[in-house]
Formats: sequence, structure tokens, C-alpha cells
Amino acid sequence: MRNPSYLVMKGSEARQYVQQIADLRISVFREFPYLYEGSIEYEKDYLETYFKSSQSVVVLCLDDKEIVGASTAIVLSEESPSIQKPFLDQGLAINEYIYFGESVLARDYRGQGVGKEFFNYRLEFARTHSMARWAVFCAVLRSETDPMRPTNYSPLNSFWHKQGFEEWTGMKCSLSWKRVGEMSETSHELQFWRKSLKG
Ligand SMILES: CC(C)(COP(=O)(O)OP(=O)(O)OC[C@H]1O[C@@H](n2cnc3c(N)ncnc32)[C@H](O)[C@@H]1OP(=O)(O)O)[C@@H](O)C(=O)NCCC(=O)NCCS
Repeated sequence: MRNPSYLVMKGSEARQYVQQIADLRISVFREFPYLYEGSIEYEKDYLETYFKSSQSVVVLCLDDKEIVGASTAIVLSEESPSIQKPFLDQGLAINEYIYFGESVLARDYRGQGVGKEFFNYRLEFARTHSMARWAVFCAVLRSETDPMRPTNYSPLNSFWHKQGFEEWTGMKCSLSWKRVGEMSETSHELQFWRKSLKG
């Protein structure tokens, strides 16, 4: 991809791309460590949180006219109860957090700086919120011995550290989705990461 271009829009303007974003999420998150057996119904429900929010952003990466990547962010106060839960449980002020949803990029386009740009655009969005003190996201936790773990799997921890995020000890949440090969949804534990927006 010689010249990736980016479309940055409010969540409400991204509804027209629901099918393309859903297709990307379903194919990318099918891979380890997410192992998500996606469906368009789950996607529409999940993405609606971003589409209906007045304080969310969607970044699309295009190769010519094809959407090859997508990334999202939203104020934590408009995320789902499952994501808010650990913050509320610990008495934290949820208006001080901007939640970064996913970054999904088609495999052929990785390693060319797009993931870094996704963080830059979302940090720019986060910094427009004067109350926000932290950018946060969560990543699924999988056992080292998970039989589905590819032998050449490289975790993204070093990538996230390079973007200035640190693992937030004691902050985890649980989300449900259907894991590949399973009949129904099960609960998955995710670890929060955070980056200060000040200084
Ligand atoms: C996350 C993702 C969007 C990163 O995109 P990318 O365009 O390949 O990342 P970049 O090219 O911007 O890489 C940025 C830096 O991180 C490093 N990096 C990227 N992927 C890495 C990996 N798997 N392991 C270690 N380092 C990695 C790059 O080498 C680069 O380092 P540099 O700044 O020293 O050059 C892409 O890997 C992806 O779609 N993964 C699957 C979905 C996923 O797990 N998303 C994250 C959770 S929602």
C-alpha cells in the first residue's frame, strides 16, 4: 500500500460503513487471541454504541477506495456497562476516560505504520475532551498454553508500550462472544491498558 488514506469521522457518520467494518472485524478477530466467531447481528449491536454516540470517532484506512482498516474511540461514559464496570466498582470518575475500541487492519497491510496512525488519530480525538485524563483500552487475556495459540504468535504488548500505554494492574473486565468452534457465547477476560493525556 503506497499511499494509505484515512477517513476520520464522527461515529454517527460511520453507520453507512457498517458492513465493511463488520466484515473486517469478523475476519481479523477470528484470529488468535480473539478467536471470535462473528456474526453481522453481533456486529450491528456492538457498533451501534459508536454510531449512536455524539462523542465517538471512527477512523477508516483506505487503499484506493477499499476499506482495509478501522479503528474507534468513544468517551467511556457512553460505552457499555461491561466496559464501565471496573471503573464504577473502583469509584473512578468515568468522564475522565476515553475508551479506545478496536484497531483492525487486513493482514497484507500490517507493518507499514497504519496501527500507529490509528493511535494518533484517536489520541487527537481524546485530547479534544477537556475532562479526559486517560486514554484506555483492553486486550483479551489468553493462557500461554492455549491450544489455539499459533507457535509464531507475537503479542502486541511491545507495540502498545511504544504508543505510551502501560498495563493497568488490577483493572480487568469481562466481555462475551462466541469463540470459534463453540455453540454459544462465553465470557472472556480482558486486561486494561492506559496512557495519561496530560503532560
Ligand atoms: C494492531 C494492528 C492494527 C497494528 O497495525 P500495524 O499497522 O501493523 O502497526 P504499525 O505498522 O503501525 O506498527 C507500529 C510499531 O509496532 C510494532 N508492531 C506492530 N505489530 C507488532 C507485533 N505483532 N509485535 C511486535 N511489534 C509490533 C511495529 O514494528 C512498529 O514498531 P516501530 O514503531 O518501531 O516501527 C494490527 O496488527 C492488527 O490489525 N492486528 C490484529 C487485530 C488486533 O489485535 N488489534 C488490537 C486489539 S483491538
